[in-house]
Amino acid sequence: MRIALTALLSPLVAAAAVVTSPVGARALGSLTISEAGLGTLNLALDKKENDEAAAGALQASVAAGCNFVDTAEAYGFGNSERLTAWAAARAGIKIGCGPGELHVATKFAPVPWRPNAESVVEACRASAERLGVEQIPLYQIHFPDLIQPLKAFGLERRKDEEYWEGLARCYEMGLAANVGVCNYGPTYVARVHAFLAARGIPLASNQINYSLMYRKSVEATLAKCAELSVPVISYFPLANGLLSGRYDADNLPKFPKSLTMKKYVVGGADGFPDGGYTPLLRELQRIAAARGKSVPQVSINYVVSKGAIPIPGARNAEMAAANMGAMGWRLSEAEVGALEAAADAIGFEFSSGGFRLE
Ligand SMILES: NC(=O)c1ccc[n+]([C@@H]2O[C@H](COP(=O)([O-])OP(=O)(O)OC[C@H]3O[C@@H](n4cnc5c(N)ncnc54)[C@H](OP(=O)(O)O)[C@@H]3O)[C@@H](O)[C@H]2O)c1
Repeated sequence: MRIALTALLSPLVAAAAVVTSPVGARALGSLTISEAGLGTLNLALDKKENDEAAAGALQASVAAGCNFVDTAEAYGFGNSERLTAWAAARAGIKIGCGPGELHVATKFAPVPWRPNAESVVEACRASAERLGVEQIPLYQIHFPDLIQPLKAFGLERRKDEEYWEGLARCYEMGLAANVGVCNYGPTYVARVHAFLAARGIPLASNQINYSLMYRKSVEATLAKCAELSVPVISYFPLANGLLSGRYDADNLPKFPKSLTMKKYVVGGADGFPDGGYTPLLRELQRIAAARGKSVPQVSINYVVSKGAIPIPGARNAEMAAANMGAMGWRLSEAEVGALEAAADAIGFEFSSGGFRLE
């Protein structure tokens, strides 16, 4: 593992101020993780054809100093967890919590047919089995208990607290070394933090959509996480590929991505300005050229510089290696400010169509 252990305390994301975080590994609960992790969502979906690509992405990430991988039971119905275990073995790295081991984060999906706290414990055991470990380094609740099929009939029963109880049991039983949440807004992050604190359990992280193109919408969440000293893990740090800089009017995303992404790239419809995100892309390209870095590296480094932990997805070794080049350096405050000004000027954010944070 080539990780500088110079700054073990993760600097907190300051929502409004332009600050850059110190270079070095991050504390995430009991784990010491690299500045960036690898997201596996897209690898799982291509499992059959791309097992070698998955192994390559993980191997290249580890070779570049990454020791953190994010997966979920919901990705490919368990395939992503199995694939992660398989790829880790291929890369010759053991999944675990110790130095030199791969710190894998996975997630519990709160779905209506899961009734109570024991559902979390059972799911955690199943995830541990698929990952081939006795203890999961970081176990997260994937989203608040929002799927309420009978809501229209006035029958809503939010089981969030029961799931938090289950998360606490996983921690206390040693099934999970650390516990976290995803897609929690300021209210819920404060509530789960207090619930766990009453049991003496730290909330290790909150994983949210956070990037240069999705900051305004999460300001209150970032501020609450900073106040509670809860590290933020950023998913979609590349805004699903937009901030990799590969798309412009001549290189539009392919179907089905085109359906949701075209408006961001070229604009001119649905209230998006003509030219879409092009002015922001130009600023990214300008800074990347001046720095001798690539556009995806600058975009990912933006998140790192703000003190959050990005988990960019990569389809193969080439992308993974390139993305990990976002570690070990920092944008200057002036560059961060210029990027934020350019992002503000385009007048829209990248919405994944996902969760509204509560
Ligand atoms: N907690 C949650 O609710 C939640 C939700 C979503 C995602 N996640 C996690 O966050 C991770 C990251 O999200 P994501 O992968 O969907 O989005 P992302 O990291 O913003 O974007 C990844 C995509 O960007 C493109 N890309 C990546 N590196 C590139 C490079 N070096 N050059 C050119 N293009 C590059 C690829 O697009 P193509 O695929 O088009 O090739 C890749 O699939 C996921 O893997 C998952 O672990 C969590």
